[in-house]
Amino acid sequence: MTTAGLTEQFVLGNYGRFPISFARGKGGYLWDEEGNRYLDFVTGIAVCALGHCPEVMSKALREQGEKLIHVSNLYQIREQAELAEFVVETMLKRPGKVFFCNSGAEANDGLIKLARKRAYDKYGAGAGKNIIITCKQSFHGRTLGGIAATAQEKVKIGFDPLLPGFLHVPFNDIETLREAVTDQTAAVLFEPLQGEGGINPATPEFMAAAAEFCRAHDALLMFDEVQCGSGRTGDWCGWRTLLNGTGIEVEPDAVSWAKGFGGGFPIGSFWASDECAGALGPGTHGSTFGGTPLGSVVALSVLKEIEENGVLENVKRQEKRIKEAVAEWGHPLIESLRGSGLMLGFVLNVGTLQEQEAFRASGKTPSLYVVSEAMKKGMLTVPAGETVVRWLPRLDVPDKEVDEALSLFKNVLDSLL
Ligand SMILES: Cc1ncc(COP(=O)(O)O)c(C=O)c1O
Repeated sequence: MTTAGLTEQFVLGNYGRFPISFARGKGGYLWDEEGNRYLDFVTGIAVCALGHCPEVMSKALREQGEKLIHVSNLYQIREQAELAEFVVETMLKRPGKVFFCNSGAEANDGLIKLARKRAYDKYGAGAGKNIIITCKQSFHGRTLGGIAATAQEKVKIGFDPLLPGFLHVPFNDIETLREAVTDQTAAVLFEPLQGEGGINPATPEFMAAAAEFCRAHDALLMFDEVQCGSGRTGDWCGWRTLLNGTGIEVEPDAVSWAKGFGGGFPIGSFWASDECAGALGPGTHGSTFGGTPLGSVVALSVLKEIEENGVLENVKRQEKRIKEAVAEWGHPLIESLRGSGLMLGFVLNVGTLQEQEAFRASGKTPSLYVVSEAMKKGMLTVPAGETVVRWLPRLDVPDKEVDEALSLFKNVLDSLL
């Protein structure tokens, strides 16, 4: 049976999938079952940080796979502790503790539990200090905690009763946030650079205000860096990229990661400052597969490669090259290009697209239409909302692949006029 047939018959139909199935990948390219090659500027939605099947990961998988794959968190796990050390000493450069899990949603569930437990320990159940404030257009995952935190109606519909205790405020709206944060607030949680919501950066002023309001009401400031973290913006911490050069300094109390953190190996994590990490003591939280020897070694191999081989510098250099090239195009279908590092969003000019008969006839959203047309020409991109097309290439993407992407994508856009 074909892959499409097998999928249709046996796999839960919860994803809208493109009619394409990949047989192998190497570096920045994927090959489908018919042998067609695609330039991959999706990388599993910001997951394959070093592209497909990089030697460092394959080697770590092979070697650790023959040594020790899994032991329970009943025991000390050296590989896990070394990965945590890297997060604290190299990524955060701030004292704290790290928890490991398997996905971004799970990491965010952990943050929610951390905030509530910390407030409970400090103020008692009667204080009702359990509200988590999140931002409109956010995306925090598909678990019950994740959809309660996500401020997009479409992910919540049909799943009542939702986990209570969440309040959503408009992103970057300082005055509304000021009114929302009270003594009942346990935490404010947002993505410093929103991904699924359309590549929307938090303003430095909003981040500073959130930190100030949290301090005033003894709430935690928590950042979801599941998509924008792990080097994607050209620094280990996305919020530091956004604050760079502004003179504003903001440091969160807790941060979550997944996606690129394991370069394609399923692992999530969160860091909590020493001030609040103690809230999750023995028996309060856990995960059977969190921080196994295999997962920890593989993730550390990816992160060390990023740290030691100029990958962060490459992210910044390629961002500059892409932004300069796109500005030179002055393309009528592109309203703007936003984002940081290699998390970039082409904001489409919907008016110009709507003048095209082929687009109107397609019945697709603008971003899905452009993504589908690019796919036909051998390039993978991904929508971020209805009007933004995302580029999320591997962080070590070479000049040649960036040049190829620029040329392919421009041809696609030209062909749509
Ligand atoms: C910012 C953010 N948080 C959380 C998640 C959920 O991660 P996962 O799919 O690994 O549960 C995502 C996934 O897209 C994300 O972009």
